[in-house]
Amino acid sequence: MKPRLLSGIKPTGNIHLGNYFGAMRQFLRLQDEYECYIFIADLHALNQIHNPAELSQNILEVAKAYLAVGLDPQKVTLFRQSSLPSHSELCWIFNSITSMGLLERAHAYKDAVAKGEKSIMVGLFDYPVLMAADILLYKPAVVPVGEDQQQHVEMAEDIAQRFNHLFGEVFPIPKGIIDPEMKTVMGLDGRKMSKSYGNVIGLFEDAESLRKKVMSIKTDSRTPEEPKDPDSCTVFAFHKLLTPEPALSELARRYREGGISYKESKELLYESLMNFLGPIQAKKAELDANPEYVRQVLAEGCTKAAAIADRTLEEVKKAVGL
Ligand code: TYM
Repeated sequence: MKPRLLSGIKPTGNIHLGNYFGAMRQFLRLQDEYECYIFIADLHALNQIHNPAELSQNILEVAKAYLAVGLDPQKVTLFRQSSLPSHSELCWIFNSITSMGLLERAHAYKDAVAKGEKSIMVGLFDYPVLMAADILLYKPAVVPVGEDQQQHVEMAEDIAQRFNHLFGEVFPIPKGIIDPEMKTVMGLDGRKMSKSYGNVIGLFEDAESLRKKVMSIKTDSRTPEEPKDPDSCTVFAFHKLLTPEPALSELARRYREGGISYKESKELLYESLMNFLGPIQAKKAELDANPEYVRQVLAEGCTKAAAIADRTLEEVKKAVGL
């Protein structure tokens, strides 16, 4: 039997290179080694999106993104969080053993307080508890995520330990795994790539928009002849993600020796980006033409995921006396 893997992405729009290199690439690399459960965190997205048409559209986009980057539904169980009532039910049970103190330490909640947001929703405060339920229902060995989700995974570990302490050993303690080279993928402005900063490169953006974005990356004012430091250049940071060897080393050499303009570096980056996104976007176009197939993958995934999640929930109910 293979060890289990669980992870998810929130359908809040425009799946980007941060999602790909921080999380999805780990899913792709691990899909043969693990029994994988990968889902669309649509209940979590409700915290941010209150437009029903937009939310349903985003949900399908994440499903297509999973398939377009190469997850194989024969190997990976793909499903929607909201199709399984067990996620919300376990969240409620965990609510009754989780202290406000633990949740008050969550980065997202602390940021909202620091920004002086007037009405912080209960859903934002409780976000880590639903995420703990998402994870623990599947008793996974590993939870591959980007660094920004590490705290949430650690909270799931805390909640599992607390539950086991109170009610007996139901949950193995999951382990968050982060690709050491891709802890945080930077965005166009050099900050963490994030939809909320508006600095993302989307997997499904059209060529014109991508070109504009690449050409507008800020650089310093060095002339083409001057030597440049690849390690402090945002354009080069993207080359590291997208330009394969030996072209990457050759480019680093030209940076250090001088003789390459930032404009040329951006042109090369745009080429690498289109080479990388071309096959993903082509697969996405096929899926756009076949929404029934995507729905069917999610429906089959839901049935498979429910078999595991319902069993865990029964065990939990028995353990707590419900
Ligand atoms: P979300 O939708 O914000 O992001 C999905 C995944 O992409 C990673 N990621 C990044 N990694 C590196 N650099 C970046 N700039 C970057 N931006 C995003 C995230 O770390 C994440 O792995 N709460 C989760 C969804 C979720 C979940 C779960 C994940 C709900 N329940 C259970 C795992 C297990 C979220 O909002 O991810």
